[in-house]
Amino acid sequence: MSLDQHDEQSLSHLKQVSRIKHEILAKYLPPWERILGSTNTRLCYFDCYAGPGVYECNGETVAGSPLIAVTAATEYLAKNRGHEMSVLLVEKDSAQRTSLEAQLKKNGPPGNGLNVQVLAEDAKEFVPKILEAVPNLAPSFFMVDPYGHPLTVPILNDILKRPQTEALINFMFYRINMDAGNPKVQHHLDEMFGNEEWRTQPFLKQHGLDREKGFLEYFMSKISARFKLPFRIRFDVEDRMAGNRTKYYLIHASNHPKAALLMKEVMWPLGDEEGLFDFGGEKHGVLFSSTPQENELRQVLTREYTGKQIEFDQLREESLELPFIEKHYRSVIRELKREGLVEVTPVSSKTNRGLKKKDLVRFLQKQEGERR
Ligand SMILES: C[S@@+](CC[C@H](N)C(=O)[O-])C[C@H]1O[C@@H](n2cnc3c(N)ncnc32)[C@H](O)[C@@H]1O
Repeated sequence: MSLDQHDEQSLSHLKQVSRIKHEILAKYLPPWERILGSTNTRLCYFDCYAGPGVYECNGETVAGSPLIAVTAATEYLAKNRGHEMSVLLVEKDSAQRTSLEAQLKKNGPPGNGLNVQVLAEDAKEFVPKILEAVPNLAPSFFMVDPYGHPLTVPILNDILKRPQTEALINFMFYRINMDAGNPKVQHHLDEMFGNEEWRTQPFLKQHGLDREKGFLEYFMSKISARFKLPFRIRFDVEDRMAGNRTKYYLIHASNHPKAALLMKEVMWPLGDEEGLFDFGGEKHGVLFSSTPQENELRQVLTREYTGKQIEFDQLREESLELPFIEKHYRSVIRELKREGLVEVTPVSSKTNRGLKKKDLVRFLQKQEGERR
């Protein structure tokens, strides 16, 4: 929708790069709701740093994360009668709350099963309070998107130990890295990590990309979740910062391989000039280029699975940290099949041509040996 003059003056401006986080959320929430909603009648979405609800971007009004969540929840509930969803929007700034409430009002009253609450709270106090008060939280998605330091690592870990609960965390690398070098504000990092151990880490003596990778890996190592997927967001042209520098990372933390695989499918195609799904770098003993090629996937799969049989989805789960999505696996396995190096037994697929879910993939030893 385009803006009238009044809106243009009052809406917060959103930079182009920040739209990626909204795209990720808008693409992820509907399948997340569908999958978890198939075994749970109640779900929750928490926006810990909710913001004003809408922004101006390139002369258009665009929805912020709370409205994206409300839209996804409304559509999910329309198809799932009798289900319930709570959308809790935490915002400590009263002007932002006023804007958010006005935007929500424009949507009209929430439909059946939808409970939307705007909470005038500080997320760092509210989240621990609610976690203590509700020991059996319904499966929940936490959006953690502050301007600076996120919820503390101990709070994030308390969130992530709940069953079927996950988080999308904005790790504002640029700001946090700057604060790490400034004695006046280093106590913010002590608070974020919950202790001072970070002060003794080798990455602090490094520079450039090495420091960035070391810092990111250290932060992720402190997050107690089985799967952590980082998506790098570069500075916007509007930021007037040198070319390729990192502004922040969106880190998806979850404990279920299906959640991580789903997020990988969502994030991967969004990697472009503003965002990057992953670093190249070494994984499974292979040095990946910064734009990973299918032959690199082929190399890992034949080396690690020759002589073995595995379900297609299990294969993707076991190699989750590789920078490839389902279509790449399918393409490599089909190529190996054409070359007689793989046999596929359909289980979930109806025909021999399909390749999905529980279909069995056998990487053959003999032919691979003959080829060498
Ligand atoms: C980056 S904006 C959120 C944007 C929002 N996630 C979106 O995508 O539409 C961060 C918001 O967090 C709010 N905020 C900052 N510190 C907070 C805190 N401790 N608790 C709750 N809200 C806070 C700010 O007022 C601001 O509106």
